[in-house]
Amino acid sequence: MNMGNEPFSPSVNTPPPALPLLSPVTLGTWSLIGDANWGQQSRADSEAAIEASLEAGITAFDTAPMYGDGASETLLGEVLKHRREQIFLADKVMAPLTAAGIKASCEASLRRLQTDYVDLLQIHWPDRDTPMGESAEALIELKEAGKIRAIGVCNFGVEDLREASDLMPISTNQLPYSLLWRGAEFELLPLCRRLGIRLMTYSSLMQGLLTGKFASAAEVPEGRARTKHFAAEGRPRIRHGEAGHEKTTFATIKSIRDICEASGVSMSTAALTVLLSKPEVVTVIAGARNAAQARENANVLQARLDPVLIDRLWLSSETLKEEIGPEVDPWMTPSRLR
Ligand SMILES: NC(=O)c1ccc[n+]([C@@H]2O[C@H](COP(=O)([O-])OP(=O)(O)OC[C@H]3O[C@@H](n4cnc5c(N)ncnc54)[C@H](OP(=O)(O)O)[C@@H]3O)[C@@H](O)[C@H]2O)c1
Repeated sequence: MNMGNEPFSPSVNTPPPALPLLSPVTLGTWSLIGDANWGQQSRADSEAAIEASLEAGITAFDTAPMYGDGASETLLGEVLKHRREQIFLADKVMAPLTAAGIKASCEASLRRLQTDYVDLLQIHWPDRDTPMGESAEALIELKEAGKIRAIGVCNFGVEDLREASDLMPISTNQLPYSLLWRGAEFELLPLCRRLGIRLMTYSSLMQGLLTGKFASAAEVPEGRARTKHFAAEGRPRIRHGEAGHEKTTFATIKSIRDICEASGVSMSTAALTVLLSKPEVVTVIAGARNAAQARENANVLQARLDPVLIDRLWLSSETLKEEIGPEVDPWMTPSRLR
């Protein structure tokens, strides 16, 4: 057992485990729960999205206690309980990341998911009020007890990742990363590569912007216009005070659309496939509200894009990348990532 004050040494201890059943595309289940960000959602559509994902070869599902206050986990438990051995469940734990907090949260998640283990338990956001050693010790104990198969983190910046990787075997870091949000490329991707930590991308479709469904910033519903792409002024739900990058964002979306139309590839397929061209990325998480979206996103499993096309797509978002810079937190100023 690793005590909280004894550094975990990746070179001495066994490396993080392989992640069997983690498919290159993961179904994100936040938007399967209707809420203030996503609007209304029907149970039938949510179930159909899960079933269609499985049928199309997606075996991984990402959830969290905070998605619908447990409702996303409950839904997955109900729909998937008889297929436990065929799927990869990635769950999360929120602050307080004390030993008691982590264990209680994990037990409650297992109950809602109707299972006795999760494949990956991820710290959802860093907890600045609890020593990381205490959280690491609790996660390692859960792993040794067989309640979790691997440990992951989300939203860990360079400093947090360095500290955490000395304390526990971290398999994955889940970060916002897409053609429209590339801040992780500056420092975090190279660090993940050096540490052998794989990236799970979230907001891979930038909450729908990369499906081409919005022609202008004015069309984006308020719940999805909370990132730093959008000016804070006049949008009361935004938690950053910044000026926004609407012009460059929508010029980039237009370039991506033009490239995709000329190549006969759907925007969502292209947007997800390019992320998998990065060796650090182990899976792209994509939300889907219904079976049709799930099937379309699963096309990525078969898609073989020409490397020249992939380069052109990355190039099309270079100006936006440079304009936004090495920012990884899409929502808050000051950034919550360290
Ligand atoms: N760790 C974290 O802190 C964190 C934070 C955010 C998200 N996540 C995870 O990442 C997942 C995905 O990220 P996200 O929720 O930000 O959203 P996203 O995957 O970038 O976008 C998902 C939304 O885009 C639309 N869409 C998806 N596929 C489509 C298609 N083929 N055609 C047209 N529209 C399509 C759907 O909404 P509409 O149909 O309503 O347009 C869908 O809900 C979440 O579910 C969650 O598991 C993690």
